[in-house]
Amino acid sequence: MAKITWRPGNMLYPLPAVLVTSKSADGAADVCTVAWAGTVCSDPVMVSISLRPSRKSYVNIRETGAFVVNITTEELAHATDFCGVRSGRDLDKFRAEGLLTEPAEKIDCPMLTASPVNLECRVREELALGSHTLFIGEVLAVHVDESYLDEKGRFDFTACRPLVYCHGEYRAIGRKIGSFGYSVRKKKIKKGSRRRGKQAEK
Ligand SMILES: Cc1cc2nc3c(=O)[nH]c(=O)nc-3n(C[C@H](O)[C@H](O)[C@H](O)COP(=O)(O)O)c2cc1C
Repeated sequence: MAKITWRPGNMLYPLPAVLVTSKSADGAADVCTVAWAGTVCSDPVMVSISLRPSRKSYVNIRETGAFVVNITTEELAHATDFCGVRSGRDLDKFRAEGLLTEPAEKIDCPMLTASPVNLECRVREELALGSHTLFIGEVLAVHVDESYLDEKGRFDFTACRPLVYCHGEYRAIGRKIGSFGYSVRKKKIKKGSRRRGKQAEK
């Protein structure tokens, strides 16, 4: 397979496109779309978001040291795009997109009601990288929509139809290929099947 070499560019896809909510020091809420987001630590639980200093959300997060990462869904696709192309400096994006909010519990920040998962974050580290500044947030609380819990009490991400951002396009997630550790997991042998197998070998 022949490969061609390109100059450096952002090609780590697919990614989640999340909606980040924040509040300014004077209490004005904002919401903006962030695709440069990720999980960076398990204990303590931490996530990262990278923002350009020109974003109103950047100013808010620097002022208050807090933000909420709201997972997006296919249903939130329109709002996700809109909140990524309009600034809270110019309009109230919550009102424009009909986005209802509820207060976070640990920080003074709104969370999106329509988002099935909200991560309340307190800024732990801030790193100016160049075009973007990386904020590492410690996750103080996770809120999940209980209607997506399966019979074992696990959150069913497939059922909430999360939105995927891939090279300029919004997409849905695809079919299941396997589950964590499946490559090394021993296959369960059905009772009696080994016997039948042996008989078949004869
Ligand atoms: C799909 C998508 C992903 C985006 N990801 C980021 C990002 O990771 N970091 C960033 O600074 N801006 C990102 N943006 C742009 C901001 O969301 C956009 O500039 C927004 O208007 C900022 O809003 P604010 O000024 O209200 O904070 C993205 C936009 C879209 C549409």
